[in-house]
Amino acid sequence: MAVKRVAVITGGASGIGEATARRLAADGCAVAILDINRASAEAVAKSIGGHFAPCDVADAEAVDAAACQVERELGPADVLVTSAGLIPNSEAIMDMDMGAHARMWEVNYNGTLHACRAFGRQMIERKRGAIVTLGSINSRLPLPLPAYNPGKAAIERLTQLLAVELGRHGIRVNSVGPTYVMTPPLRAKVDSGQRDLGKIMGVHALQHLPEPADVAEAIAFLASDAAKAITGVLLPVDAGWLAAVSYRTYAGGVPWTE
Ligand SMILES: NC(=O)c1ccc[n+]([C@@H]2O[C@H](COP(=O)([O-])OP(=O)(O)OC[C@H]3O[C@@H](n4cnc5c(N)ncnc54)[C@H](O)[C@@H]3O)[C@@H](O)[C@H]2O)c1
Repeated sequence: MAVKRVAVITGGASGIGEATARRLAADGCAVAILDINRASAEAVAKSIGGHFAPCDVADAEAVDAAACQVERELGPADVLVTSAGLIPNSEAIMDMDMGAHARMWEVNYNGTLHACRAFGRQMIERKRGAIVTLGSINSRLPLPLPAYNPGKAAIERLTQLLAVELGRHGIRVNSVGPTYVMTPPLRAKVDSGQRDLGKIMGVHALQHLPEPADVAEAIAFLASDAAKAITGVLLPVDAGWLAAVSYRTYAGGVPWTE
């Protein structure tokens, strides 16, 4: 019988992380969820026969302790997906709360770094592994989210640095870059009129936003041997946003896209 791959998902209690935990469990992986939300993480872990390690990814020592727990319970990690993150509303730099700004960097950027270090060490020992970080369309272009946007650009650069540093150990490090994903919070904002889906779709090439399962599919590919020659890339899962956003706004919009 084939040995199960051990897959660790930070932020696996909700959204993209949850969809990824379910996708990798369906692939036959032994899944461990690291999340600050104990109740949801336990429920997801239970439903897929996975494990749960409570942890605030902003706390490096807590991540190291969770990595030891996962190794004890399941063995060393073969796959790491860093989906734990905070998602803000848009705001002006001059008005932003500096406490919230610092916390976002601690969770989104430092949390990614902490997990890559803790589980990367387990992978180095065995000379194999695949890491997938959560970038965003924010990794590529300026958007009015002053802590989140540069943090996602930094995560893309961190992914490239790690890809080179860990490549000689047989470890691949890639990123996915989703556009707006149709998660329950976005659906609620659209339904309550806080977000205009027509305007959002107007700067995409496709007419449908990705679902969490679509992002999980891209992550599962990058984590699999099918991607064995791919490292250091950010794979947009963006319904064509990166291609469309400047095209659609050229000279205020071109008539044939109406
Ligand atoms: N949803 C989108 O539209 C979208 C688009 C692009 C990128 N992303 C990225 O995808 C990732 C997941 O987003 P999502 O939409 O699934 O969000 P989500 O809120 O549904 O899930 C995030 C998970 O992270 C956990 N978490 C938050 N802070 C934590 C901490 N300090 N320690 C441990 N766990 C923590 C939460 O409890 C939650 O389970 C994030 O990195 C986000 O930036 C999301």
